[in-house]
Parts: sequence; C-alpha cells; structure tokens
Amino acid sequence: MPDAPTSPTGAEAGKFAAARRAVDLIGDGMTVGLGTGSTAAWMVRALAARVKSEGMTLTCVPTSSRTGALATRLGLNVVTLEDVETLDLTIDGADEFDPAFRLIKGGGAAHLQEKIVAAASKRLVVITDPSKDVAHLGAFPLPVEVTPFGHTATLRLIQQVVNQADVDGREITMRQHEAVPVITDEGNVVYDLHLGRIGDPEALMRDLTCLPGVVETGLFLGLCDTVIIGHPDGRAETR
Ligand code: 5RP
Repeated sequence: MPDAPTSPTGAEAGKFAAARRAVDLIGDGMTVGLGTGSTAAWMVRALAARVKSEGMTLTCVPTSSRTGALATRLGLNVVTLEDVETLDLTIDGADEFDPAFRLIKGGGAAHLQEKIVAAASKRLVVITDPSKDVAHLGAFPLPVEVTPFGHTATLRLIQQVVNQADVDGREITMRQHEAVPVITDEGNVVYDLHLGRIGDPEALMRDLTCLPGVVETGLFLGLCDTVIIGHPDGRAETR
C-alpha cells in the first residue's frame, strides 16, 4: 500500500473518504491518538499529507508498533502516551459498531493499547466502512487478550463465562498466523470468542475483565462519540 494518500478504489476508497473527513477534525497544536488497522493507516497517510502541506504542529500517540512505524516514516511527531497528559482526539477503526456506538475492536490484535489511548482521550472518533454497521455486536469474533502464563487455565475460565452469557455461539479459538500464536505488542496471546450475538455487552465485558489472566477485551463501551462511515463512491457520512 502506498505511503502517499493517492486515489484508492473500491472498498479502500470508502476507508480513505472516512479517514479524510476525520483528519479535518484535527487542528494545529493538537495531541492526537493514531489508531491501528487498514482504515487508520489511511488516516495516518492523510494526516501526514495535511501536516506537510499546511505546516501544522501536532503531537501523535500511536496505538501499536505498526502505526508508530508508519507515522514515524511519514514524518509525524510521534511520542509515547507517557509523554502526554491528555489527548484531544483519537481516530481509530473498528470491526463492528452498534447504534449506541458500542464497538468490537482488536481484529488487528491492538485493542489493549487502542483502549488505553482512547480512554486517555477527550474523544474517540471511529472511521469505518458500511460493513461494520451492525444492529447487535457479536458476528465479528470478540478478541480477548490473555497473558501467556497460564493461558490454558484462563481459557477455561473464559469458557465458563461464555457458557453462562447471553450469546448465540460459544466457540473459542486462539489467534494464530500460519499456525503460530499471534503475540501482541504487549507480549500476550489473543483468544477469539465466536459468539454470533452478544445480548449484554456490558455484563460480558465485566465478567471477562475480572478473570485472572485476562488483560483486556475488544469491547469498547462508552468510549466512542462519533462514527464516520466512508462509502465506496467516496462519500463520507458522519453520525
Ligand atoms: C485493530 C483494530 C482495527 O481498528 C480494526 O480491526 C479495524 O481494522 P480495519 O480498518 O483494517 O478494518 O481494532 O486492533
């Protein structure tokens, strides 16, 4: 994928449209959280182009090593979350959003850092395409980040929670890439919960996050205030 925000086509055109609309929310001097994923990568490219053409001064906090590498390569001023007190805005992608702007994130296994950065931000703006718009969360497998130590014991606890939850599916798989477990930036593993439909996201998040060994879930509840949907014809719709 090119570094410069040229003119993408098809599904990428929608992501680019949403990314450009979100970048318009950024003003000179702001501290900005940079999300992770293909849509967020378009935003980083569009932001770098705007900084270059307008000479803006920004402070950027990435939500993953991948995003940090891209932003640095494109010349953005990248710092860590420890270097700032608060962020004006974080712009990130999502795997699903519902009418209450509850999200499933973590398709890129970056949801731990993404949630910490979002929680430190005054606003979380999600950029997405229409396929992520759902009536109920859960068709996308819910990522749960778990410490490597004792992860099979933690899996049994997660399974107990899932067995008692208001969901349609109960299968759990370990995230792997080419038969090797995916390791997150924080050195953890990821289990994907194939739930089909999550009846009570708040209860599920509460029950999962209190388990020993669970570091974070991909449920983002009460964090997002705006969703920008990019359509393949290049339209961007703000909700
Ligand atoms: C990474 C994420 C991403 O934001 C999410 O997976 C969406 O990615 P994409 O924009 O590539 O569809 O949560 O952990």
